[in-house]
Amino acid sequence: MNFEPDSLRIEPLGPGHDRLVFRCGDERLDRYLREQASQDPRRGTARVFVAVSIDGPQRILGYFTLSAATVVPADEKRLPRHAIPAALVGRLAVEASVARRGLGGLLLADAVKKAAVAAETVAMAVMVVDPIDERAEAFYAAFGFECLNGPRRRMFLALPFSRGGADSFA
Ligand SMILES: CC(C)(COP(=O)(O)OP(=O)(O)OC[C@H]1O[C@@H](n2cnc3c(N)ncnc32)[C@H](O)[C@@H]1OP(=O)(O)O)[C@@H](O)C(=O)NCCC(=O)NCCS
Repeated sequence: MNFEPDSLRIEPLGPGHDRLVFRCGDERLDRYLREQASQDPRRGTARVFVAVSIDGPQRILGYFTLSAATVVPADEKRLPRHAIPAALVGRLAVEASVARRGLGGLLLADAVKKAAVAAETVAMAVMVVDPIDERAEAFYAAFGFECLNGPRRRMFLALPFSRGGADSFA
C-alpha cells in the first residue's frame, strides 16, 4: 500500500534521527547517511532532508540532499549552450523495506518544491540528478527527468518557477 503523505514528515536531518540502521540496498548511500550527512549541512555543501513516519519519528524511511550546482550542457538542443544554474539532488534513497510504495516519488516532489521556492530568490533553471544505475534512471524517468548528453549519467528536469507550478508536480 502506498504511503499517505499525511502519515509522513519530511524535515531536515537532526540529532534525533537514527542514521545507523538505514538500509536502501546501496551501501554507498547508507554510508553517506551514517558518516557524512550530518557534516555537509554544517559545511554548507548540502542540505539533507529525511522522511519519517508520524508514528516513529526517529526511524529514517528515506532521505535526499539538495545543493546548488552548475550544468554545462554538452550538445543539448533543449537547453542553452552556456552554463546554467541548477538544483542538484546529490543523493536520494528509500529504506529497502518500504520501497515501491511511492516514498521515492514523494521525496522527489518535495525536493522539486523546495528548489522551486528557492529559485524565486536565487535563479535556478533546472533540477539535475546523477542516477547510480539503470533502476535509478528508470525511477527518475518515471517523473519526467530526461538524460543530458555527455559522459556522465546525468538527468534533468525544468524547474517550475511559481509556487503554484511546484505544487502541480507529482
Ligand atoms: C530508486 C528509489 C529511490 C525508488 O524509491 P521508491 O520509493 O521505491 O520509488 P516509488 O515507489 O516512488 O516509485 C515510483 C516509480 O519509479 C519507478 N521505479 C522505482 N523503482 C524502480 C526500479 N527499481 N526499477 C524500475 N523502475 C523503478 C517506477 O515507475 C515506480 O512506479 P511504480 O511502482 O508504480 O511502477 C529506491 O529504490 C532506492 O532508494 N534505491 C536505492 C538507491 C538509489 O538507487 N537511489 C537513486 C538515486 S542515486
